[in-house]
Amino acid sequence: MYEQVSHSLLNKILDKLKPEIRKRDLRHFYTRLGANFYAIYSLSHNLYGQRDDFESQMVKLVEVMAAQYITRDSALKELDRVREQEHNWFLSQEWVGMALYANGFADNLQGLKSRLSYFQELGINMVHVLPILECPKEASDGGYAVSNFHDVDERIGTLEEVQSLAKALRKRNILLTLDVVVNHTSDEHEWASRARAGEQKYQDYYYIFDNRDIPNMFEETMPEIFPESAPGNFTFDDAMDKWVMTVFNSYQWDLNYSNPEVFIEMLDIILFWANQGADIVRLDAVAFLWKKIGTTCQNEREAHLILQLMKDCCQVTAPGVLFIAEAIVAPVEIAKYFGEDAIIAKECEIAYNATFMALMWDAVATKNTKLLNQGILSLPDKLDRATWLNYVRCHDDIGLGFDDADIVQAGYHPYAHRRFLVDYFTGVFDDSPARGQPFGRNDKTGDARISGSLASLVGLEVALESGDNEHVQQCIDLILLLHSMVLSFGGIPLLYYGDEIGTLNDCSFVDDSSKAHDNRWMHRPKIDWKKAGLRKQRGSVEQRIFEGLQKMIAVRKSTPAFADYNNRELIETGNPHLFVFMRSNPFLPSDNVLVAGNFDDSPQSLTLSDLSNRGHFEYSQLQDLYSGESPTQFKDQLVIPPYRFYWLIDRGL
Ligand code: GLC
Ligand code: GLC
Repeated sequence: MYEQVSHSLLNKILDKLKPEIRKRDLRHFYTRLGANFYAIYSLSHNLYGQRDDFESQMVKLVEVMAAQYITRDSALKELDRVREQEHNWFLSQEWVGMALYANGFADNLQGLKSRLSYFQELGINMVHVLPILECPKEASDGGYAVSNFHDVDERIGTLEEVQSLAKALRKRNILLTLDVVVNHTSDEHEWASRARAGEQKYQDYYYIFDNRDIPNMFEETMPEIFPESAPGNFTFDDAMDKWVMTVFNSYQWDLNYSNPEVFIEMLDIILFWANQGADIVRLDAVAFLWKKIGTTCQNEREAHLILQLMKDCCQVTAPGVLFIAEAIVAPVEIAKYFGEDAIIAKECEIAYNATFMALMWDAVATKNTKLLNQGILSLPDKLDRATWLNYVRCHDDIGLGFDDADIVQAGYHPYAHRRFLVDYFTGVFDDSPARGQPFGRNDKTGDARISGSLASLVGLEVALESGDNEHVQQCIDLILLLHSMVLSFGGIPLLYYGDEIGTLNDCSFVDDSSKAHDNRWMHRPKIDWKKAGLRKQRGSVEQRIFEGLQKMIAVRKSTPAFADYNNRELIETGNPHLFVFMRSNPFLPSDNVLVAGNFDDSPQSLTLSDLSNRGHFEYSQLQDLYSGESPTQFKDQLVIPPYRFYWLIDRGL
């Protein structure tokens, strides 16, 4: 698009660039800058146009993009070019991810690098290393309180080790995902220290107030994220004698994006990590990027504009790099983080599918799929060239963020139903084998979330203790069922380290004062590699889960219908225990896969004639892609055993 005002500004900016930038051959950079500049200009103008220093901020912004482009390695620039050409590369069914803590999976980055073959053994080719940056020695919210964005926590490794890990992964065709914590910094970050010391420039990086007047107005409508361990959204700082906005923990200071310098600093940091070799950057807590009195301070329109601007700028310097939005918000809000439009208002290519995750846990507790079906029916369509990150568990708690209207539609009362789910997963409910703990309980609102490892939440811990082999097998089936859903739903499946070998809760965190107040640590394990070795011992729990996943991953990778081209159709079967959907191959219309999962503990039947009435699935000779077997069929009734799934194709004709 050619637009005079922005174009003449661009010319002015190019004239003002530092001589060391002007001298360089930046052909690709300028082509991309020209293509994106109108969008960059309009978004910046919208956010910061009223400021007197708008033009000089724009010069700074372009200088940051150019300087990072100049330092970008030629191998990464080549990758950028390839990915520009094959811009749908990340929608392929070939990607399967795993999230892990470097020091939980191995002791540190070096240890991680020495275990890369484990990923290949399982079939993982995207690794999300949870935060590794310098952070306080004591509590740091699992590294999400960053005190230096340009260096690695010495307990985990060095910057050189990140670069060498990135190279080693690239050689094996494994993508690297790294976090950039954009919403806040640690109170030990240099910006915070300088703010504390009284420097106005750095006080303007945060939301800092002389007294409670404005904080009180904010508090009227802001929810609390950690109501037990960090109630309220502001913290009094003795050194400054002022109040600081701290939405998460009291030591995490929220950055003020109404200041363009904050935006430019964070863009510089995102590009810095792109240049260290991150293929994907996970942007933390993006829903919180803009604060406005009278709102919940989540999902504000400006938060979206900031993400669009980050994306447009990143596309100029490092177009091969993708963003993941971590926005654990209401179902209708999450999809907005893909952007309003795939080309002119793009935000993040990937977003956590927290909705699907929580709905699956509902199906586990209720043994039926009423809410799961209803919730997925209401899930808004997403853009093309955008994809979900589908997961069963992650390093965080499980929030029960379903839409109340969906809960009602499924026949429950929202408050009582959420209460039931918390009781179920914390084992309070009679007959529940789950061993979770409540997280973030808020007595004012009655809300609570759930902590606990996948295996312990499905009941494996209880089953193993009681020595009930049948129950153990049921738990293994359930673990595999949940994974079969995320591996076939459409999007990138993200496994959580330890789940592939059935890791139980680890309650040793209570002995560590920096962790004791936060029970999410019960599901952030230290991998016991001796126990992991049992994956090779026939009949062990580890082997049954690991090999099941290994096989599922291999089948997924060779099933084009599992790529994500918005090619999923939910199928209502009339059986409330089944979750059934059709995946179609957009490039070969007859190549459909029918996915069916039974969330009940008794066999359930699926009436196939109901499906073929829809005219898109034959069932003359069904075969399950996962087991290779033909499932038991009586006339047009297909029987799905308890906690089992099928990935069905028709081998007939
Ligand atoms: C993200 C992280 C979570 C952290 C929060 C605050 O949501 O996943 O672990 O507590 O951000 O940084
Ligand atoms: C809230 C936030 C999310 C964070 C989580 C940590 O759900 O929305 O960003 O990961 O809290 O518990």
